[in-house]
Parts: sequence; C-alpha cells; structure tokens
Amino acid sequence: MSAIRFEHVFKSFHEQVVLRDFSMEVQPAETKVILGGSGSGKTTILKMVLGLVKPDSGRVFVEDQDITDLDEAELMPIRRKIGMVFQEGALFDSLTVGENVAYQMREDRTYREEQIEKVVRKLLGFVGLEDVIDKFTSELSGGMRRRVGIARALVGNPRILLYDSPTAGLDPITGHTICELVIRLRDLEGVSSIFVTHNLESAMTLASEFAEVQPDGHLAFKSEGGNLCLINTRFVMLKDGIVLFEGSDEALKEVDDEYIQEFLT
Ligand SMILES: Nc1ncnc2c1ncn2[C@@H]1O[C@H](COP(=O)(O)OP(=O)(O)OP(=O)(O)O)[C@@H](O)[C@H]1O
Ligand SMILES: [Mg+2]
Repeated sequence: MSAIRFEHVFKSFHEQVVLRDFSMEVQPAETKVILGGSGSGKTTILKMVLGLVKPDSGRVFVEDQDITDLDEAELMPIRRKIGMVFQEGALFDSLTVGENVAYQMREDRTYREEQIEKVVRKLLGFVGLEDVIDKFTSELSGGMRRRVGIARALVGNPRILLYDSPTAGLDPITGHTICELVIRLRDLEGVSSIFVTHNLESAMTLASEFAEVQPDGHLAFKSEGGNLCLINTRFVMLKDGIVLFEGSDEALKEVDDEYIQEFLT
C-alpha cells in the first residue's frame, strides 16, 4: 500500500504549466520532503491530495483509493484521514487558540463539549502551547501560530499530514522545534507526510534526526554524526513542472546539476 500516490499528473492554470508528468509515491510512515522554488507547484500538489485542486490529467491516490474524480461529498471521508498545516496558517484571528483547535469538532456536532475540551488540551500539550489556550491567535508569535496550526491539523488523529512550508520565516531554533514535532509524528506515531519547504536546514534536520523513547520513558532526538541517511525520509526536487531529483539527502548532495547545487548552497 502507498499512503499517497501521484501518477503522471499534469496541471496548468490558464496558459501556465505548473506540473508536467508529475509522479510520486509516499510510503506509509514515510516523510517526503518536497523542495522547490516559489511558484514551482508545491502548494498545488498538497491541494491535490485533499481534492481541492484537480489534475488536468493523471491520477491521485490516497491509501490506494483513486480520488481524482471524487465529488465533494465523496471526498469527506478522505479529508478526515488527512491533516493539513496551511502555508499562511489559516487561523481565525477572532477566535482563541483553543477555539481554533476545537473549530472542526464543534462544526461536526458529534462531540460533547467535555470531549472537545480534552482533545484540545491534549493537542495543545503536544505542541507545548497549553498555556496560551485562551489567547487570541493574533497575540501569538509566528512560531506559536505554526504550532497552533499543527495542533489543529492533528484533530481526529489523521494518518496523513501535509505541511506547507511550516518553518518559513522562523528563526532556526523555532524552526527546529517545528521539525521535531514532525519527526515525533513520523517516528512514534507512524504518520505519513509530505513536508513542503524551501528551507534547506529544515529538510536536513528531517533527514538526519530521529525520535526515540528512552528506557526511562523520556523522549530523545538523535542524529548519528549528521551522516545518517534515514530510510523514512526522502527528497523530491521540483523544477519547471517536473521532478528533477528524487532520493535520499546523501544522493541529493551528489547530484550533478547546477540548479540543485545552487539550491543547496
Ligand atoms: N488557483 C490558481 N489560479 C491560477 N494560478 C494558480 C492557482 N494556484 C496556483 N497558481 C499558480 O501556479 C503556480 C504554482 O503555485 P503554487 O502555489 O503551487 O506554488 P508554490 O510552489 O507553493 O510556491 P510558494 O513557495 O511561493 O508557496 C504559481 O505560478 C501560481 O501563480
Ligand atoms: Mg506554496
């Protein structure tokens, strides 16, 4: 089974070709890091996984189900399997942090208020923000907003997570905190994910660190000499609508391509 699969996807907006024969597979519990410049089609790819954007041709699969031609009603159960961390956060500034995370559960009208409260506290605890539950999101720093976005994406324990540039514009330490949340979900929860970024430092953190529960029950992040090539994290480099490279971080550094080497420096 694959978690997500694109088969020969083409997509244009008006005259502009964004994806040309794009194929990619995300294995269960794998993180696929998509690197590419601004406008290369990264957000478009994530929206296709949710069925928010349809390919002109080619197929998109989620857990081996072909979602390409599904309508809005048929997409509902698919979208429940997926958590999306939006590029711009997409938080409601007129709501508190807790209300933002609770939003979808309240809309569903199938949860009791005590249940919602419990889930919200647990998720905010996971991202280290239980203290700001009653603050308005407009009062938060950029890094905190991103963490609220992650907490909200985790509602319903999705098996698939889509992260749209979650470390863009953050200082390296805050960016690293976000990466560690992604690594925890990958290594301890077995979540499958796509991590879109043009932040190379984040990409390399994901490729070189792993999370492990210690015998004493504590969580530790490890990286072995920085040369570790994790098998559960692979890179895809997009350019001009095609996959310029796919493989490990080590292989990426070896590629004989001017654009890639420039991107890496
Ligand atoms: N709904 C749309 N209508 C018209 N053009 C669009 C639409 N969505 C995306 N595009 C165009 O498709 C191209 C790819 O957009 P996309 O948002 O996927 O890029 P991106 O790789 O996410 O860029 P960034 O790193 O800046 O977020 C851009 O040139 C964009 O202008
Ligand atoms: Mg984008």
